[in-house]
Amino acid sequence: MEQYFLAIDQGTTSTRAILFTVDGQIREVAAAEHRQYHPQPGWVEHSAEEIWSNTSQVIENVMTAAEVELEQLLALGITNQRESVVFWDRETREPLTPVIVWQDSRTQDWLDEHSDTLSAEVKKRSGLPLTAYFSASKISWLLRHDPDLADRAKRGEVCVGTMDTWLLHNLTGGEVFATDVTNASRTMLYNLQEDQWDETLCQLFEIPAEILPQIRPSAGDFGTVTMPECIAGVKITAILGDQQAAAFGQHAVSAGQTKNTYGTGCFLLQNTGTEIPSSEHGLIPTVAYQIGDQPRSFALEGSIAVAGSALQWLRDQVQLVPDTETLVEVAASVDDTGGVYFVPAFSGLYAPYWDTNARGLLIGMTGYTTNAHILRAALESTAYQSVDVLTALADSTGQDLESIKVDGGMAVNDQLLQFQADLLNVPVQRPTVIETTARGAALAAGLGVGHFTDLEDLAELWQLDTEFSPSMDPEERAELLRYWHRAIERTRNWLG
Ligand code: G3P
Repeated sequence: MEQYFLAIDQGTTSTRAILFTVDGQIREVAAAEHRQYHPQPGWVEHSAEEIWSNTSQVIENVMTAAEVELEQLLALGITNQRESVVFWDRETREPLTPVIVWQDSRTQDWLDEHSDTLSAEVKKRSGLPLTAYFSASKISWLLRHDPDLADRAKRGEVCVGTMDTWLLHNLTGGEVFATDVTNASRTMLYNLQEDQWDETLCQLFEIPAEILPQIRPSAGDFGTVTMPECIAGVKITAILGDQQAAAFGQHAVSAGQTKNTYGTGCFLLQNTGTEIPSSEHGLIPTVAYQIGDQPRSFALEGSIAVAGSALQWLRDQVQLVPDTETLVEVAASVDDTGGVYFVPAFSGLYAPYWDTNARGLLIGMTGYTTNAHILRAALESTAYQSVDVLTALADSTGQDLESIKVDGGMAVNDQLLQFQADLLNVPVQRPTVIETTARGAALAAGLGVGHFTDLEDLAELWQLDTEFSPSMDPEERAELLRYWHRAIERTRNWLG
C-alpha cells in the first residue's frame, strides 16, 4: 500500500492541496483561486472564510481524485503566504476582520510617523526593517480601527494569526492555536534572539500578547485534523512559511545554499546555518526552519514584492493578452525588449531598496515598441530584481554564489531562466519538481511524523531537471544592468 504526505499550500492567489509520495514526487493536485479585494489604492484584502472553505474543498478534491484511503496518509504539512493576518472569534472561529494581505501598504504612513520610536527597537528585536510588509502594523491597524475588537482582544476573546494559524485552528476544530518559528519571524513581534513573542514590541504596537498563537518548531506536533471529515485523524506535523518551505523543498538546508522562488512575488533565500545573520545591504534575517527541539536554522532573505503578479496585471487589468499561454508566446516572439524597461514597484520597492515611496514605471518606449516588448520587459523585470537582491547578498556575505536553485510557477519558463543565468552570470538549476513550496511542507511533515530520521534522508530526493548556464557577453550584461538601474532610480521616492 503506497503511502503519502499531504501538503496544503495557502498562497497569495490560490490554495492548493498536493499529495506527495514519500520520495517527494507529486501524485495529485487540487487548486482553488480566491478573490483579491482592493478597496482603496494600496490596500489588499482576502476573505478568511473563502480561504478556509477553499482549503476544505481542495483537500476533498485531491483525496477524491487520487482515490487514496485515509490510512495511506502519513501526515499533513501546511505552508502559507506569510505576514497576512486576520482576527477571529476564539470560540466560534468566525472571522472578525478581512485578511490584511502582506502586499497591503495602508499602515506605511503610520509607521513613518512613528519611526523615531519604532525603527531601532524593531530592528534590534525582530531583525526587520520598519515596513508595512510585516504583520505587526496590520494587527495594530485593525485594533485601532475597531474599538469593540480592541476591547474583546483585551479580554482574550479573539485570536489573531497568519494563514497557517487560521487553517490550523480550523483543521483541529479549535484545539490547536499555534504557529511555527518561520511564520513568527515575519510578524515583527518575534524576538529573533530569544525565540519568543517580544513584550516590548507587543507594547509598542499595542497588541495584547494573549491574542497571539503559541510558537512551535516547524516540524513536530501540531495536533490532529478533525475537519474536513475526509482526512479526520491525520496528524499535522509541519508548518513553514511558503518561502522557507520552498528552501526546505530545494534542500537548501546548509549554509550557503540558495534558492529563488518565482511566484506572485519573488523571494531569494540563502541558508546561513544556526547563527542569526545580519545584513547592511537591505536583506532580512529570518528563521529558515526548526526540526523538533534542534537549534533553529536561519536564512538571509531578499523579498521582491512583484514578479508573476506584474504579468497578471498586464493580462487582467491592462488586458494586453487574454491568457497566460498567449502572454508567454507573445513575450517569446521578440529577442529582446527593444530598450523597454518595466519596474513593477506597485507596492514600492522591497529588497534591497525598501523604498515605500517608489511606484511602477515603464520606460524606453519608441514608435517601434509593441506589446511583445512590454510583456518581455515585465518578464525580465523579475530577473533584474533578482540580480539586485543577489548583489546585496554577495555584499552581505562577502561570498559569490556558485549556483542557484529556482522554483515556483514562473520557473517553467526557459526563456526567463536563461536570461536569469545570463544576468547573474551564475548557473541556474531547476529541479524536476518545481512545486517546491508544497514539497518542502510535505517532506518536513515526513520528518515531523518520524518517517524520515534526519535531513540526510531528504538529500537524495532532490533531482536536477535542467541547468541553465550563463552565456551572455559581459559588456552586454553591464549595459543592460546600467539601463535597469537608471529605470530603478526614476521610480525612487515618487511619492516622497
Ligand atoms: O512574504 C510573502 C510571501 O510569503 C508570499 O508568497 O508565493 O504567495 O507569493 P506567494
